[in-house]
Amino acid sequence: MTEAILLVGGRGTRLRPLTVHTPKPMVPAAGVPFLTHQLTRARAAGVEHIVLATSYLAEVFEPYFGDGSALGLRLEYVTEQEPLGTGGAIRNVASRLHSGPDDPVLVFNGDILTGLDIRALVSTHESTGADVSLHLTKVADPRAYGLVPTDATGRVTAFLEKPQTPEEIVTDQINAGAYVFRRSVIDTIPAGSPVSVERETFPDLLAAGAHLQGMVDSTYWLDLGTPAAFVRGSADLVLGRAPSPAVPGRCGDRLILPTASVAPDAKLTGGTVVGEGASVGEGARIFGSTLLSGAIVEPGAVITDSLIGVRSRIGERSVLTGAVVGDGAVVGADNELRDGVRVWCDATIPAGAVRFSSDQ
Ligand code: GTP
Repeated sequence: MTEAILLVGGRGTRLRPLTVHTPKPMVPAAGVPFLTHQLTRARAAGVEHIVLATSYLAEVFEPYFGDGSALGLRLEYVTEQEPLGTGGAIRNVASRLHSGPDDPVLVFNGDILTGLDIRALVSTHESTGADVSLHLTKVADPRAYGLVPTDATGRVTAFLEKPQTPEEIVTDQINAGAYVFRRSVIDTIPAGSPVSVERETFPDLLAAGAHLQGMVDSTYWLDLGTPAAFVRGSADLVLGRAPSPAVPGRCGDRLILPTASVAPDAKLTGGTVVGEGASVGEGARIFGSTLLSGAIVEPGAVITDSLIGVRSRIGERSVLTGAVVGDGAVVGADNELRDGVRVWCDATIPAGAVRFSSDQ
């Protein structure tokens, strides 16, 4: 039975302020901590033993997931005192693996939402006899990513930094954040100091003549690292566009957790989530957004593609588009907040203080 390592120790800086009190994998997507979706998908693919490599806010994982038995898993937690980077984190948990030297070990980034066929990645790894196999995905605009070209057999030929010129865009394939390692390869990563698997381990292995195999799988794939991507992913889970056995309830236009309260004439669409104990007032309209637990949306507010933090409050008639509101923040009535705005945890924006359009 294949075992897996989940990398969940990053600081999640791109997602701040949502990651001020909560590590990124524990931020709820479609009503449950995002990590739940990854754990249940791995379980559905036959994985039973998973080691979580934790660092930032490490103490919150075990109280929530415990020994993993509720999900049919055996979970272990290993905490880095100082963050060891993605490669160092993999090496740091090696002593917890039971696999033999030639066995495959799965490794997942803790912030990727994907429909990847995990079993197919393992079988590609085994049939090609690779040292490491990588899930690759094709993106429309590869400029923001490191590129991973492969030859006709799928073998990786290079790891290229973010392309600077059009000529450097030699492929649209990027590293999708799921790998299978031959167990003995993990033991070759230097122990005890920070190592990046993407920038150091993989290029070094390639330079040393190792066999790195790419598997292009063009199913649903999203890196939930930014606020815009996180709300998109949460909405796609609710809408059923992204597959997960862990969505609590039937997929549809909205997900309202049982302890939430929503005014009868409020309109919730586009995969909106109303979290535990959250409330939505009369006439509010919410599209494609996530309200975390205890958030309050007052009457007549209009919220689109936004992430509303724990116990925060959005005042009457305020209009939010592409906004992130940190835990405990208060957005007073009649504000207008637009794309990319991040309201910090516990901040207060007075009524009528911020607009992008005229008030007349
Ligand atoms: P940003 O700061 O927004 O880039 O997010 P991040 O810290 O999560 O970094 P990134 O998205 O590059 O990390 C990819 C995956 O590796 C995520 O699941 C992280 O939780 C995880 N990760 C990154 N650095 C470390 C580390 O030092 N230790 C451990 N255990 N995991 C890490």
